[in-house]
Amino acid sequence: MAFLKRSFVNVAFLKRRCRLGPAAGRGRRGREVGGRSGYPASLGAEAREVATMTPAAYDRIADWYETEFVPRNSADDPLGVDRSLRDLLGTGDGICLEIGCGTGVHAASVRVLGWTPVGVDVSAGMLRYARGRLACARADAERLPVPDGAVDAVIAMMVHTDMPGYPAVLREVARVLRPGGVFVHVGVHPCFCGGFADRTDPEAVVIRPGYLERHWTRESWTDRGLRDKIGATHFPLAELLNAVLDAGLVPERFAESGGPAPMVLSMRARVPG
Ligand SMILES: C[S@@+](CC[C@H](N)C(=O)[O-])C[C@H]1O[C@@H](n2cnc3c(N)ncnc32)[C@H](O)[C@@H]1O
Repeated sequence: MAFLKRSFVNVAFLKRRCRLGPAAGRGRRGREVGGRSGYPASLGAEAREVATMTPAAYDRIADWYETEFVPRNSADDPLGVDRSLRDLLGTGDGICLEIGCGTGVHAASVRVLGWTPVGVDVSAGMLRYARGRLACARADAERLPVPDGAVDAVIAMMVHTDMPGYPAVLREVARVLRPGGVFVHVGVHPCFCGGFADRTDPEAVVIRPGYLERHWTRESWTDRGLRDKIGATHFPLAELLNAVLDAGLVPERFAESGGPAPMVLSMRARVPG
């Protein structure tokens, strides 16, 4: 554990272990780690291109994310993102790794709960803001620069739609968590949000064809969100939950929040102890 603590407070140490970009190599367990291992070819060439340049994509909008997007969506927590995190993570005193920590907006809540927050993200632009909020490093969640079983908790906050290889990310989560370690996922609700879900009318959500297929899209009913700027991967509910099970994580608790139809689906899962 001392090794881990040292590694997280020393960002340079972490950075040396980051394997970003397409370079192939051997993973810590001797497996191939070249490219994005969990990336499904079925999502198409455009999604592949955007996924590969995700860091650049978020670099471009990091200032907007920090000054407009987060303030608009965090005042009074209208989507229940912070509430879900606090309820599901609960109190603890170990290391809590946020994958895709972005600008680090969740670090304060994690700290209030007693955990030590650390984060990784692929976007240098987002990490520029995160640095003042938690110890963090640039790394790909599909290839975490963290030893097996080294962290007590992992959180994934509003990121799964930015990670076409989320099933591979979940396998990494299971790998780095200690036995009994807790994983909290708080994400866009797969059933009521996406290119197929028209939320123009605040009183009703119109679900158009498309829900059942995993796909990537920039289609959006609003120009105030992320999907029209960055694009998003849609995982149907069953596929998302099966990916959690396939990674060896055991779901314990679920929550839905935001309205009128839920906009956020959250869950707590654990690595068997
Ligand atoms: C919508 S933002 C969420 C940021 C933060 N969790 C929050 O709730 O404000 C998604 C973040 O995921 C990051 N991201 C996308 N793919 C990633 C990957 N493979 N590994 C690490 N971070 C990734 C992006 O750079 C971006 O900062």
